Amino acid sequence: MKLGSVEHKELFCHSFLNSHLEYEPEHLPWPDLNDADLARLQAIPFWEKALDIEREAGAMVSSYATTVTDPLLHEAIALQGREESRHARLIETLIDRYSINMPARPAVEVPPNIEPAFTTFGFEECLDSFFAFGLFGIARDAKVFPEALFTIFDPILDEEARHIVFFVNWFTYIQINRRQGFLPLRLVRTLWYYGKALSNLITAFSDADPSGTGFTATGASTFTDDLSLEKFLSVCIQENHQRMSKYDSRLLKPELMPKLASIARRTLQFIPQQRQPQNVEAKGEWGMGG
Ligand SMILES: [Fe+2]
Ligand SMILES: [Fe+2]
Repeated sequence: MKLGSVEHKELFCHSFLNSHLEYEPEHLPWPDLNDADLARLQAIPFWEKALDIEREAGAMVSSYATTVTDPLLHEAIALQGREESRHARLIETLIDRYSINMPARPAVEVPPNIEPAFTTFGFEECLDSFFAFGLFGIARDAKVFPEALFTIFDPILDEEARHIVFFVNWFTYIQINRRQGFLPLRLVRTLWYYGKALSNLITAFSDADPSGTGFTATGASTFTDDLSLEKFLSVCIQENHQRMSKYDSRLLKPELMPKLASIARRTLQFIPQQRQPQNVEAKGEWGMGG
């Protein structure tokens, strides 16, 4: 199968459309939590940011879909828009169900340059999801919450994995068909977008973020006491590999983050143990990558 061909488009669109899950957030089997679990859930600092990201994503992706004339691409992107809005409803349901404190959210605005916004968002999802997979794996392993809660969120993370697989294939398909498929150019453009996504992520993590602590997971160390950065990266790589292995081998998968993380992990192995910080504040967005 040639990348950029009609066959490629049909494969990445149909595999996306055919793997859609039917569920309503309100009808999921939300477990009762004991006081300690409830307090821990309420103290997680990123619900506000996660809700904002999903609300904005739902509106932006749905609005981008209305501009796409290719019927198959339109159908797939419109479905992603509905899934992002459903993620927002899922977080709202969680907030209601567990009485999480949430100030009123501002109205959602759709950005004027909709395709660049969709593209930047796709690269952000690739970054966020990579760390979210790892943080989720660590929290689940440490049994931070009852398994019933992880069982609810596991398919949501798979949904984000599905989005980023669709996205990297869409991006490549579009670049090739707009005669921008020359590989070095595609790489430069990819890196540019990744750079932008990374700088957005850093801004969100820093104090400059207007939502304050909202988005920053105060660290995987919230979930477990003996976590080194090396271990965190290893779990991210492993969880990412596991989620990505569910897809057709002919589809492209996001590669930059797993590669960078592998390099970082190898580098860390050369640093003497005593120089590595203990209980690393491994920051990552655990919630919805968007
Ligand atoms: Fe989402
Ligand atoms: Fe998504």
